Amino acid sequence: MQPRLRVVGAPDPRDAFRADLHAALAAPQRAISPKYFYDAHGSSLFDAICALPEYYPTRTEVALLARHAGEIARLAGPGAELVEFGAGSLRKVRLLLDALERPARYLPIDISGEHLQQAAAALRREHPALAVQPVVADYTEPLQLPWPPAGAGLRLGFFPGSTIGNFDPAQALRFLRMAARLLRGGALLLGADLVKDPAVLHAAYNDAAGVTAAFNLNLLARANRELGADFDLEGFAHGAFYNSPLRRIEMHLVSRRTQQVALDGRAYRFAEGETLHTENSYKFTVDGLRALAREAGFSPGPVWTDPQRLFSLHWLSAPA
Ligand code: AVJ
Repeated sequence: MQPRLRVVGAPDPRDAFRADLHAALAAPQRAISPKYFYDAHGSSLFDAICALPEYYPTRTEVALLARHAGEIARLAGPGAELVEFGAGSLRKVRLLLDALERPARYLPIDISGEHLQQAAAALRREHPALAVQPVVADYTEPLQLPWPPAGAGLRLGFFPGSTIGNFDPAQALRFLRMAARLLRGGALLLGADLVKDPAVLHAAYNDAAGVTAAFNLNLLARANRELGADFDLEGFAHGAFYNSPLRRIEMHLVSRRTQQVALDGRAYRFAEGETLHTENSYKFTVDGLRALAREAGFSPGPVWTDPQRLFSLHWLSAPA
């Protein structure tokens, strides 16, 4: 590992949100990465989304994992090393770790160090023999991991939740190529939400209790808290719709009126109806996902779906 030196004048990683928000506000179609949703408040709002009656992905994927954990563990074999992209839901990784035969090590990768340490501590208590080694990194950027994997088994990547749907197709391909390299000789277990009746999708991102709206608006609240911006939260509405030609849910923050927002002494004007695009959530077909994985260098293996074909779980082998 190289020592981490800070070059004078180089951007502090904590300023990434500030820089990205300025860039977003200055662009003709304003758009910012959904990764900025996840401060502590945003993460707990996301947990609340996962429990909503309309939000089917989490419970469907958890059921798939529970149902097929034995088969997944057989494919992985003994002594596997588990690498999770995002220190996501303990519930999901627990299902895997409980099924795997003597897993050698668990490497959760996440940008939020705090979230990581909590997840790591909980798993160390439950699996005393497991080496839990958090990696604080942004997996949307090129990434290195120690080689060879710990233990005698293969390295198994885990990317659940259809988080891959936040990437546009080019970014998804880039991510999968990187994953194929990090997991060479092993496999990736990938969760992907499926194309379906747009009414079902619409309901999942426009829940009756307004939790998704609060999650979306928290981006502005976070900008006010952390960056000293002056967004009027009453001045923006949650907008989410299915863009069917692009097969994605789009989330926007829609300006309710003409208004100005100040950030670091710069003023940004919003016309009525103008939006800040906050998230894309791409939906996949099983064949489309397998083709994308193949293009990235994987050999697609078994796929598990629920009877309603709401969600899919893919075993993707990474050549050595
Ligand atoms: C975590 C990106 C998979 O796209 O469904 C949920 C995030 N946004 N409701 C998704 C989200 C609004 C979620 N992912």
